Amino acid sequence: MASISTRIGTFSIENPVLLASGILDETSGSILRSLREGAGAAVTKSIGVTERKGYSTPVISEIKTGLLNAVGLSNPGIENFVEEYKNFPEKRKVVVSIFGGNVEEFSILARRVEQAGFDKVELNLSCPHVKGVGSEVGQDPELVEEIIAEIKGHTSLQVWAKLSPNVTDLVALAKAAQKADAYVLINTLRAIGVEIYSRKFSLSNVVGGYSGPGIKPVALRAVYDVYKETQKDIVGVGGITTWEDAVEFFLLGARAIEVGTAFIYEDYPIYSKINKGLSDYLDSEGFSRLDDIVGVMVKDGAFKGH
Ligand SMILES: Cc1cc2nc3c(=O)[nH]c(=O)nc-3n(C[C@H](O)[C@H](O)[C@H](O)COP(=O)(O)O)c2cc1C
Repeated sequence: MASISTRIGTFSIENPVLLASGILDETSGSILRSLREGAGAAVTKSIGVTERKGYSTPVISEIKTGLLNAVGLSNPGIENFVEEYKNFPEKRKVVVSIFGGNVEEFSILARRVEQAGFDKVELNLSCPHVKGVGSEVGQDPELVEEIIAEIKGHTSLQVWAKLSPNVTDLVALAKAAQKADAYVLINTLRAIGVEIYSRKFSLSNVVGGYSGPGIKPVALRAVYDVYKETQKDIVGVGGITTWEDAVEFFLLGARAIEVGTAFIYEDYPIYSKINKGLSDYLDSEGFSRLDDIVGVMVKDGAFKGH
């Protein structure tokens, strides 16, 4: 049977299907359940320096092709987070997502995450709907470079940079983030929903982030563009609900994928379903390991189109 193990930076993972940040209730319980039910690793909800309540409802709106959300980065703050995970049994399989408004906040968070026994962070440089953090930080290449240099310079953490698709030049941003160990592509797209009878916006914050099947082609384009230019390790995320979706991301250069909005259509067995489909695909197509298909449609000499 073909091997679906993979590697992101120095992190070797049994399988490439990860839980995306902010999905499920994201307590330590749902993270542990994801790991027990077949996720290769799991990313936590984004954690900031202090507790945030987030926006008032409605914070989520389902549309035909996915979800709109503006949760507002509600989170318990780093100290409560550390306390909750004090006795967590599988910290090596947890990627802690952190967000901040400046270098100092990212630095405080990263050091605390490392002290608490974790060895990987995903930098949320891309939340599209909260002022002063997320993509407001992630749109500034110099700031992105500084944040990553600070964390790499003062901790031994593996750093995954989650970038925003809401920029004109994603490749330039990726290059600014090149000291990261991996890129995570993509966060949600800035979007608005309208209720025609109440004539209200679907989300209390008006602008939110669009996720789910409708954004998959945008995420694929992001992975393709960045892999072509950097050949770095990429975690693909955006609209993945089936193993076939996952294969598309691997062919364009992703070495692992995250599932998020898929959880409104599927339950925890999604991890093993995607893993099985992947392994069967590799077997039936004559590949012995996942690595054999990573980026094959992008590497030099690959067929470039119809
Ligand atoms: C309700 C909700 C909350 C989210 N919260 C976060 C978050 O806290 N941090 C983050 O980096 N991404 C967050 N995301 C973005 C997802 O991690 C993911 O990048 C995005 O939804 C695209 O993937 P998908 O189409 O598989 O959902 C959130 C998405 C949703 C739908």
